[in-house]
Amino acid sequence: MNRPTLKIVLVGLPGSGKSTFGKKLAMELNFAFIDLDEYVEAKEGKSIPSIFYEHGEGAFRNLETKYLNETLDLIEGFVLSTGGGTPCFNDNMELINTKSISVFLDIPIETIHKRLLHSEGDRPLFNGLDSTELKTKLEDLAQIRTPYYNQAKIKLSGEEISTELVLSELLGFFK
Ligand code: S3P
Repeated sequence: MNRPTLKIVLVGLPGSGKSTFGKKLAMELNFAFIDLDEYVEAKEGKSIPSIFYEHGEGAFRNLETKYLNETLDLIEGFVLSTGGGTPCFNDNMELINTKSISVFLDIPIETIHKRLLHSEGDRPLFNGLDSTELKTKLEDLAQIRTPYYNQAKIKLSGEEISTELVLSELLGFFK
């Protein structure tokens, strides 16, 4: 029997675990894994922070949209983790839903806040913020972005999301 091939796209706030979880899910499905931020960096030969600092957020959003289009058309059978802002610009959520099965990782803000306080990653949107400012920024982003994330075909809520849960949701999706 032929294996089904799907395009699965993970959306959610920064720190919701899209990349870590995406890698795990791709391994379980034996699919390719693509991290959109890493794809942009490889194509542009620049880190995300340097794109932000040298060219501004607008330039980054255009590149993000360009490479989202490119990756969505690449192959079948992949898990793509997007950047936290990807679905919220340039009709990207609509595009994602047209071409893939989208999954929203709906992790509580408190959990994300704790994770980001202890993470080493360089995230331009949060640069220089203390703990309280980070919390406020996350709440603001959640308010603006959740309506986009909520358009995902599958929504998984909780502190820890297991790949088993996604797999059963995916099966349910095809019933
Ligand atoms: C962004 C999130 C980042 C990255 C960029 C902008 C955002 O990705 O795309 O720094 O607007 O939320 P992660 O969600 O992987 O941190």
